[in-house]
Amino acid sequence: QYVYSNVTQSLNFFGNSDPFELIEEYGSPLYVYNERIFRERCREMKNLVSYPNFSVNYSVKANSNLQLLKIALEEGLNVDAMSPGEIFLELQAGFKPEQILFISNNVSADEMKFAIDRKITVSVDSLSQLELFGKINPGGSVAIRFNPGVGAGHHKKVITGGKETKFGVDPNFIPQVKEILKKYNLKLVGINQHIGSLFMEGSAYIQGIKSILSLAENFEDLEFVDLGGGFGIPYHKQENEARLDLSSLGKELDSILNEWVKSYGKNITFKIEPGRYISAECGVLLGTVHAIKINYDNKYVGTDLGFNVLQRPIMYDSHHDIEIYRNSDLPSTKKEPVIIVGNICESGDIIAKNRLLPEIFEGDLLGVLDAGAYGHVMSSNYNNRLRPAEVLIKENGDHILIRRRDTLEDLIRCYNV
Ligand code: LLP
Repeated sequence: QYVYSNVTQSLNFFGNSDPFELIEEYGSPLYVYNERIFRERCREMKNLVSYPNFSVNYSVKANSNLQLLKIALEEGLNVDAMSPGEIFLELQAGFKPEQILFISNNVSADEMKFAIDRKITVSVDSLSQLELFGKINPGGSVAIRFNPGVGAGHHKKVITGGKETKFGVDPNFIPQVKEILKKYNLKLVGINQHIGSLFMEGSAYIQGIKSILSLAENFEDLEFVDLGGGFGIPYHKQENEARLDLSSLGKELDSILNEWVKSYGKNITFKIEPGRYISAECGVLLGTVHAIKINYDNKYVGTDLGFNVLQRPIMYDSHHDIEIYRNSDLPSTKKEPVIIVGNICESGDIIAKNRLLPEIFEGDLLGVLDAGAYGHVMSSNYNNRLRPAEVLIKENGDHILIRRRDTLEDLIRCYNV
């Protein structure tokens, strides 16, 4: 067997199987998750600081497969939720209402009630939604998302703090916040922020934390401050990209938090909301090469990895390392630039542009690395393609199906004809 790039091999990612066996059993394309890696990332986040009242709220938007949620629960994580659907899944997985923080954004009264009725803390994102909360639940406890004026992220579409985003309450409105809290006799139990997704060094995150902590001083009796997520992972593993230095970030955080708590005078809980860091690296997306062709000097590798399956490259020009698996050991020494494309009817359907790789053949399998976050959750039925199955490689190396592939019948389930 031939494997180009040894990232998965060195991790023993596929356990007792190989990519060909998995595709044979579950079809192509296929999301494969490794339980050991997922658990390791949960633990790294839990051990980020030594500050005692610390909660890791897994941001399930990154990957809400029910089986992974159950594992996160076993690992002692809490969760955030962005929608009633996420709340529903989290409750199904066994999380208790007090382990869930609903970070709402432009929700309806019914959606807010959905959380309140289930005794889940709601964080609101604007003065008008605070007012709505007050009307629905006067005398209740609420949290508020602030926009600390700082943003950071791998692409402008995922920067969620600062002047150019829809998120969070502008701290200039704190007097109005206080008026609304008073008007409805609300207790502000927590404040939160999220400055954006994917930082590889902590300076903007730390700056955001300093801002939210200084905002927190405007409110007495907070029970928690949620510092947000955004912890990055190295997507360029084949080029040995360095990992985020969690140990020095953790130390810096510890000293800031301990210092701040002393002056606040109350032992509050700090939360973080990592999504990508926890699930990205546990996932590989497998696909099959169906056609190779040259079009006006460009070499195209045609696969079943369309943007219906993985949206990140078309949405954000994101890079994912690609591995090649072949059921023979055909030598392939020289590298050539190729454009790896999917099977969707749009010319933007490109998973990797001008990637320098050894020669690829029809019948090869490709592995798209670090696909466990914002992968399957963002997949769609565009072109009426079937969303892939999800498989888990257990700690003993065996594999189990944790979500079946769509069927053709699924495509007509919602029609009323
Ligand atoms: N908390 C809040 C309020 C968020 O909006 C997000 C992500 C997170 C936590 C988790 O962020 P993370 O730790 O995963 O960076 N689809 C994009 C990323 C969108 C992130 C949206 N919000 C991508 O594939 O890069």
